[in-house]
Amino acid sequence: MISFDTDIKPLFRQKDVVAMKKYGAFDLHSFEDVKTNSNEILKRLQDGTMPCDGAWQKDNIDKFNTWIQEGMNP
Ligand code: HEM
Repeated sequence: MISFDTDIKPLFRQKDVVAMKKYGAFDLHSFEDVKTNSNEILKRLQDGTMPCDGAWQKDNIDKFNTWIQEGMNP
């Protein structure tokens, strides 16, 4: 089972967290924030527009997607 703390949180770099906090969107290291915005985040990861300095590898996007499918475990 994929968990936020072990598997998902480490995928977000410190610079991602800082950037998205500055933008005022959400805290990518907060379970509640990522859970609440999971579909929007997945959309950006899939269309490759975020992170803006280079798209994630497919297996990491798949992992994020599976985490959502499994009900977003902490
Ligand atoms: C709903 C999802 C998201 C929205 C609406 C969003 C929106 C934005 C906006 C408006 C900016 C500033 C303008 C720009 O550089 O394009 C930005 C910057 C950035 N975002 Fe996101 N973002 C989202 C998700 C993410 C995710 C999931 C990541 C990382 C995995 C991420 C990483 C970054 C980074 C690294 C920057 C650049 C900051 C800089 O270099 O100054 N964002 N985002």
